[in-house]
Amino acid sequence: MKTLKAVRGMYDSYGLDSRLWGRLEQAYRQIMHRHAYDRLRSPIVEPVSLFARAIGEVTDVVEKEMYVFEDRGGEKLALRPEGTAGVVRAGIEQGLLYNQIQKFWYAGPMYRYERPQKGRNRQFHQMGAEVFGLNGPDVDVELIEMTAELWRELGIDQGVTLQLNTLGQSDERQAFRGQLVEFLNAIREQLDEDSQRRIDTNPLRVLDSKDPNTQALLAGAPRLSQFLGAESQAHFEHLQAGLTDAGIAFELNERLVRGLDYYNRTVFEWVTPHLGAQGTICGGGRYDGLVEQLGGKATPGVGFALGVERVLLLIEALEQIPADLGRDADVYMMAASESAEPRIRQMARTLRQQRPGLRVAVHHGAGSFKARMKKADRSGAEMLVLLGDDELDQNTVTLKPMRGQGEQMTVSQDNWIETGF
Ligand code: HAM
Repeated sequence: MKTLKAVRGMYDSYGLDSRLWGRLEQAYRQIMHRHAYDRLRSPIVEPVSLFARAIGEVTDVVEKEMYVFEDRGGEKLALRPEGTAGVVRAGIEQGLLYNQIQKFWYAGPMYRYERPQKGRNRQFHQMGAEVFGLNGPDVDVELIEMTAELWRELGIDQGVTLQLNTLGQSDERQAFRGQLVEFLNAIREQLDEDSQRRIDTNPLRVLDSKDPNTQALLAGAPRLSQFLGAESQAHFEHLQAGLTDAGIAFELNERLVRGLDYYNRTVFEWVTPHLGAQGTICGGGRYDGLVEQLGGKATPGVGFALGVERVLLLIEALEQIPADLGRDADVYMMAASESAEPRIRQMARTLRQQRPGLRVAVHHGAGSFKARMKKADRSGAEMLVLLGDDELDQNTVTLKPMRGQGEQMTVSQDNWIETGF
């Protein structure tokens, strides 16, 4: 029989990877909580037309990367390739956007049929946030500040840089686009194949071509910054001032255009040199036209999403895995005799209540004392709590540090938690 395997580009997470993921989730949720963002849960499956309209017909994501299928009723559906479109759809449908300020966060799996490689999967996970109803660059700063805070908490802030650009408003982009196309057409034959195709479909994307020859040819291209009106310029300047004020360093990158069509004004990416080709761990920006484009009343929006798998890879690459995640439990509790078992379970309950941060494992199953000790050791726990018949009689318990320093102690059951933890 053929062995069953996960779909190419989709992975199981367990053990250390899963624990680290949990830690990231915890940190992310706390940051969202501290900033008063509310979680929004929307379906993984949406009508195909939502993504075509939101992301753009001629983007890579919509043209070649979506998982599209018909349900039994013949409706055309897609697995979501990103989170923003669904949040906007939900916001409009539930009447959450018009004349209101909303701050949402979300997390979950996304699907893109890309060529799998390190840091690029077909099922990957994002954690994101979207804010509606606010025009000012102070919100853009808040969102970027929240991501910066997350990197700091995860210990990866030294390994990432913030790239920043503005795409202006759509009329400004339109004017720029005309001149850019003219410029590109003049050098069409010298460009790489992908870029040639994009001149006609999505010329701004030529700017972030990975082809070094194309990049060199772009040196003399017109620049979007020359087409910005006073308002867009002021927005961008205030954004930069706000970031500086918040102590967040950034690099201006005029080639940064992002792969999804809904952006205007602010766009940004957090990039790292430590992950090879897939170095963008987080991206986002403003999309003030999207709500209207999807049928709602005009409402500004701005947000970001980070790639969970890439952030986890970066934590590993920078050796920032917290030491306690390497072990299965922090405390291992063991009865040395059958008569001590009810009591040790009771003591474990009390310890879990009084020290909720600790992971407390109780030994289960029979086996010789030696075999049990081996299990305790293999758990990686820092502390073994041992209860035998002698201890039971004398109302004491034995605390045995399993790693590094510290003496074994037999202490009273009345204050064993205060003494040992
Ligand atoms: P995006 O840049 O397409 O933006 O994706 C955001 C992040 O998801 C990327 O920076 C990357 O870390 C991760 N990612 C994307 N594709 C893959 C993949 N195939 N494998 C692993 N990780 C991946 C968006 O999706 C926008 N919705 C972000 C946004 C929210 N903009 C405004 N609000």
